[in-house]
Amino acid sequence: MSQDFTGKVAFVTGGASGIGAAVARQLAARGAKVVVADLKLEPAQKLVDEIVAAGGLATAVAVDVGQPEQVEKAIQFAVDTYGGLHLAVNNAGIGGVAKPTADYTLEEWRNVVEIDLNSVFYSTKYEIPALLASGGGAIVNMASILGTNGFASAPAYVSSKHGVVGLTKATAIDYAKQGIRVNAVGPGFIETPLLGDNMDSEAIKGLRGLHPMGRLGTADEVAALTLFLLSDDASFITGSYHLVDGGYAAQ
Ligand code: NAI
Repeated sequence: MSQDFTGKVAFVTGGASGIGAAVARQLAARGAKVVVADLKLEPAQKLVDEIVAAGGLATAVAVDVGQPEQVEKAIQFAVDTYGGLHLAVNNAGIGGVAKPTADYTLEEWRNVVEIDLNSVFYSTKYEIPALLASGGGAIVNMASILGTNGFASAPAYVSSKHGVVGLTKATAIDYAKQGIRVNAVGPGFIETPLLGDNMDSEAIKGLRGLHPMGRLGTADEVAALTLFLLSDDASFITGSYHLVDGGYAAQ
């Protein structure tokens, strides 16, 4: 196993909560210098304090991933703070309102696509030059099981996550010979505030039943796959989409 990230600089969007926070914690515990980038600076700083208290290295930066200029600045901040960029996890995302396609307003549609798909392009666009300047590295884009399956009343989210899988493949091909690997992770339903904020507890119970394992996943289980893909253990893996879904897509 080569999951020692000592000396590596990692940029994690949506790093203040849920899956992003688990990724940030696990990366820091394995020696990476982690930039926790999030819309919400206070919880991001709280996580950084926790990581530093545990002996890790991390710093927080405020960013709205839907604003390309902010994304560019946040990535430059990471490079300026730690001297380069080797790992990026484009993870920030939102669920969007639950309603069928024709009921989506243009604004609702555009907002979800902006945060869940366009943001991954913005991040990738500015991460690639920094990764190249640092001698290469790895990107993981947080898609979803809904990057391959459909789901009721989630047209913008499903479309965005399918788009993230496509962007992952296209980018991986473009930079495969230049030492940058790009992969996507497809979690099933995971116990995080994103689910809790969008669904009542009855709906969450129903989701458990959709997974053959009969439960939701944890943020740490998604982080474990993410770290594998970021690590040298995954040195021949690029342009692919990896599920961590308790069997959801096997049905
Ligand atoms: P979460 O709600 O716990 O965390 C998301 C983080 O992203 C929050 O800290 C939030 O402040 C941040 N964020 C939201 N909008 C932002 C913006 N415009 N700019 C910067 N940061 C922003 O959510 P969770 O569950 O950890 O989700 C992380 C990723 O995993 C998302 O892309 C989500 O779509 C994906 N995912 C989640 C699943 C789940 O069941 N929880 C399942 C499959 C994928």
